[in-house]
Amino acid sequence: MQKRIGILTSGGDCPGLNAVIRAVVSHATLTYDWQVLGIPYATRGLLEQKAIPLSFHGLDLRGIDPLLNMGGTILGSINKGDTLAQIDNILKGYKALELSALIGIGGDGSLAILNELQTKGDWQFIAIPKTIDNDVALTERVVGFDTAVNTIVDSLNRLTFTAASHDRVMIVEVMGRSAGHLALQAGIAGGADIILIPEIPYSIKDVCLHLQQLRDRWGRKFAIVVVAEGAKVADDSCCYTSCQTPSCGMGQYIAEEIRNCSHNQLDIRVSVLGHIQRGGIPSALDRLVATAFGKAAVDLLAAGETRKMVAWRNGKVEAVPLEMVLDRSPLHVDPNDYLVQTARALGIYVGNKVDVSVALTS
Ligand code: F6P
Repeated sequence: MQKRIGILTSGGDCPGLNAVIRAVVSHATLTYDWQVLGIPYATRGLLEQKAIPLSFHGLDLRGIDPLLNMGGTILGSINKGDTLAQIDNILKGYKALELSALIGIGGDGSLAILNELQTKGDWQFIAIPKTIDNDVALTERVVGFDTAVNTIVDSLNRLTFTAASHDRVMIVEVMGRSAGHLALQAGIAGGADIILIPEIPYSIKDVCLHLQQLRDRWGRKFAIVVVAEGAKVADDSCCYTSCQTPSCGMGQYIAEEIRNCSHNQLDIRVSVLGHIQRGGIPSALDRLVATAFGKAAVDLLAAGETRKMVAWRNGKVEAVPLEMVLDRSPLHVDPNDYLVQTARALGIYVGNKVDVSVALTS
């Protein structure tokens, strides 16, 4: 009997999901002659017993394959909802669709839910990691992160010139509620002066001293501050503003604090990049990772594997036990990470102590 596999995208979308779908459908159809069904809106599709047949030829639009460079997900996705409360009906839906295996593309939260369902339903299941937060453990690459970093860097390029023209402090709020990979990597690559991430609490006094040093010591009249939405202030740091996160937003909060500690001497503007970071055409690297992951996931199913996640390790794609990934996720920035050290070596403030004597004597 022809194998019939399902594929779904779960959690927040990101660029590269369609490239994964394309790779899975192409490889499963051309190499193994399997039938591939797209499950719309993640577990909701299973619950409602909905599936869309995906064929290699169906994906081909007069010789131009649109999926490789299309952002978002043609299957739709959900990142909220009480999936576990509906577990029995989801399992029923999976059975009714007569699937012999499932490929789930998701971040650590979605993969944990799918793992739970898999355990109860005893499905053959392979996971593919995606997230702009880059916080899935045991893999050096995930689908979507590279494009998001590039999107932020592009924004920083633009903001730097307008900041320099007006001698302004530009605060750029990026995504990352609990992991700062996005802020850290984009901040370094985009030339930020200050990077605030959830893993390394910052002191507002030090942020202000750093801005002062930039001006007084180096003659830099503008500054770029990249702040993750979940950045944490050190307990002993001053908290002047009444503006409270999340209603006021981390970028706005930092702006108020800097305005206060600089006695309104700095001209500050805030840009919140928001869901712009999740959109756009996937980068070449994300397309490559998506394609390699999709191909590997199909091969793992063919080999009879289950409860594995495809992972990029030492330059190639390997399979790692999903339980092990979930145990170690979300993956946070290690405060002693070489990228943190690199940033500091270049004079970027990443929650480090500022040498007051330098700030005051120059
Ligand atoms: O988990 C990925 C992520 O992009 C986070 O960085 C961000 O906080 C969140 O999704 C936003 O989710 P939503 O689409 O629900 O606003």
